[in-house]
Amino acid sequence: MRCFDELARQHGLSDEKIRSVLTRYLQEQELKPYQAELIQLQQHLEQTNKRMIILFEGRDAAGKGGTIRSVTRYMNEKHYRVIAMGKPTEEQRSQWFFQKYVSQFPSGGQIVMFDRSWYNRAMVEPVFGFCTEKEYNDFMKGVVGFEKDLVRQGTILVKIYFSVTREIQKKRFDRREHDPLRQWKLSEVDVQAQERWEDFDRVKFEMLRNTHTAAAPWTVIRSADKHLARLNAIRVILNAVDYEQLNQQIDYVPDDAVVLSGAREIE
Ligand code: ADP
Ligand code: MLT
Repeated sequence: MRCFDELARQHGLSDEKIRSVLTRYLQEQELKPYQAELIQLQQHLEQTNKRMIILFEGRDAAGKGGTIRSVTRYMNEKHYRVIAMGKPTEEQRSQWFFQKYVSQFPSGGQIVMFDRSWYNRAMVEPVFGFCTEKEYNDFMKGVVGFEKDLVRQGTILVKIYFSVTREIQKKRFDRREHDPLRQWKLSEVDVQAQERWEDFDRVKFEMLRNTHTAAAPWTVIRSADKHLARLNAIRVILNAVDYEQLNQQIDYVPDDAVVLSGAREIE
């Protein structure tokens, strides 16, 4: 322990810093058996040639990116892809709306994770005027059938909405502004997310109300605590696939203080 104290002093680490490093370490340890299950799940998809799509939706700074990194950390890179699309190109704009997403869909044995998805047209696009009202309405009508078909034809579809409060989003934006490792995440669209909070509330409600279906339900994850959000997102993903579990010792039941059905969120 003395040698540890010495090291902490040398590096100018406060007790608080040591506590936070230790907490992070313990959290990473807690995730590991779940991440091992994700590898098992991947193998199952490969063996059965099944396709899986996971949507990560939510406002900016809701923790989508960080959760995706936890999910993929130990996965076999050959069999998954993460898709985060930027501003659509002129060519994409000229296409059928779903085309740019469909062109990224998985083949048998693959998982594709969308960091934001076609639901841009239900949230970001109408709020910022990136689509017309007609395009928005067409989307809201069409998406239900689109997903139903996708699922009926055998793709496992998981739709996760990460939910944050206005205060937490503000706190995370402030941190982005001051942290050189996070600055790149701060975009013009982000800055406006705070100002347009109520507009987002409205479209979020409409989205959940119209697109939470039996074939393709939404799962809402409250992500005030990033670790619990990640852990529970992994549980949700594991529960979505009927594979043979490796580890019977861990708890697969999502924490109901963190995870709720999309239907509950809009009650
Ligand atoms: P991210 O949340 O991935 O950091 P941004 O906050 O910059 O990205 O943008 C949010 C979403 O809005 C992205 O999915 C992006 O593709 C979309 N977007 C940005 N500009 C446009 C635009 N002009 N038309 C349509 N979608 C856009
Ligand atoms: C988010 O929702 O938070 C962003 O996608 C990226 C991130 O900060 O993880």
